[in-house]
Amino acid sequence: MRGCMARSGGIVESEDDSVPEEIRFKLHPKQTIVLQSVATEIFYGGSLGAGKSWLLRALSIYYALAIPQLQVFIFRRTFPELISTHMSGQSSYPELVAPLVNVGRCQLTQTEIRLDNGSKISLHHCQNEVDVGKYLGVEFHLLLIDELTSFTRYIYETLRTRVRLGELKVPSQFAHKFPLIICSGCPGGIGHQWVREEFVDGGQGMRVRRMSKDRGGMLRQFVDALPEDNPTLLLNDPTYLDRVRGQADKAMVGGWLRGDWSVVSGAMFAAAWDRQAHVCDSFPIPDSWQIFRACDDGYSAPSSVHWIALDRANDRFYCIAELYQSGLLPEDLARLVLARDRSILVTDGYGRVSQNTTRLAGVIDSAAFSDTGTGSPARANQMNKLGCDWKPCEKYPGSVAHRAQKLHEYLARGRDGRPRLIFFRSCVKIIQAVPSILRNPDKPEEFSPHDELIHAIDSLTYGLNYWRERSFKTARLTGI
Ligand SMILES: Nc1ncnc2c1ncn2[C@@H]1O[C@H](COP(=O)(O)OP(=O)(O)OP(=O)(O)O)[C@@H](O)[C@H]1O
Ligand SMILES: [Mg+2]
Repeated sequence: MRGCMARSGGIVESEDDSVPEEIRFKLHPKQTIVLQSVATEIFYGGSLGAGKSWLLRALSIYYALAIPQLQVFIFRRTFPELISTHMSGQSSYPELVAPLVNVGRCQLTQTEIRLDNGSKISLHHCQNEVDVGKYLGVEFHLLLIDELTSFTRYIYETLRTRVRLGELKVPSQFAHKFPLIICSGCPGGIGHQWVREEFVDGGQGMRVRRMSKDRGGMLRQFVDALPEDNPTLLLNDPTYLDRVRGQADKAMVGGWLRGDWSVVSGAMFAAAWDRQAHVCDSFPIPDSWQIFRACDDGYSAPSSVHWIALDRANDRFYCIAELYQSGLLPEDLARLVLARDRSILVTDGYGRVSQNTTRLAGVIDSAAFSDTGTGSPARANQMNKLGCDWKPCEKYPGSVAHRAQKLHEYLARGRDGRPRLIFFRSCVKIIQAVPSILRNPDKPEEFSPHDELIHAIDSLTYGLNYWRERSFKTARLTGI
């Protein structure tokens, strides 16, 4: 074997004489950029039909042939999507590797392709956030994620922790290229916002950026690809784009065909949201107003806490502070919450500004009071011992729809023409979440439980709903 090499004019060639001629893929120029890139964390796409899924398959086979013992993991969010995209139909894996199977160099099962050089391409799905747990002991040399916008940030970042070289001997021509992540995707979907934030914003012009350590530290690149970048698509089916244009959700057509990331389809509050009106600079809270907080507790998933102030005279809520962080033990979360309570600026009737000294209380999802089964007290009880004064926010049939409805009501204008709910500019997660949170396609009155930003929406709406549902007098929320 003389070894495998990449590219010449977009052709992935192999110098391995035992690789049949038919396995030598010809990449289109935009796809070739991915092959030739020095980046190690690449996002290819931005529009429909740009040759995204095909590229991932072709590169997985190419690298698996070129690098013995390579472990390639390719993901889609659900199993049916995984199989229908990659294992059935024309140019799916079975068809692409058939020449290798025919010469006895490759074995194929429903979710695995094994090559005779010890390399393996395995197909996976990760539908729920808890599913990432099963990869914790696994090593990915090449991680491929198709339709990244259908994944949550949490799943992606957890899968990325599994990307490492281990004992793999990487041939010199790939020395700085591995371990490698290549993702594909389009605007829309539950991960639209975070993918946009991480890969698209700041990635214009296909520039390669070294990310900071707290964002993975890899060399990142966004390769922006349009349907026109995949001539095969239009050659075979010249009217395909017209069918996309005829789609009912016109907002998304621009996203899918022009790679426009400013559109969000199916967003529940998009029409009600007006950034000019709903976001304001922060100001000290008059001490006659009531302040309370609301929390959606999490450990692996983020804990999201919002501080809400009520201007009763004007019937208006302000979301004045936010905490959004995963990996916090109860005592750490309590410490941060209590510190934030004290850092809120309040002003008295004479305009004097000071830090808040009133003890605050709040509501937290009732699950935080459940027994964890570990023998230690429930997380909310542990926090209450430290002074958080959390009350359980009960869930009941229809409570998600009820919370969504409340949020609609409060985003609307009050008697004075201003919204009944306004956000301080510093509350960045919730300002992102409100205009982009998706509807649950199965229950249109509810938020999508899979939306990346659901935790921020949950904490805010626990607070708003609790305010209406329960008597604050008996709840002993400070000042109410
Ligand atoms: N370099 C190529 N050579 C031959 N065929 C290609 C190439 N790139 C893409 N194709 C073909 O173009 C068609 C669309 O490609 P693919 O399914 O990868 O696009 P996509 O961007 O994943 O589409 P979608 O947005 O629908 O998921 C497929 O039939 C695929 O086989
Ligand atoms: Mg695809």
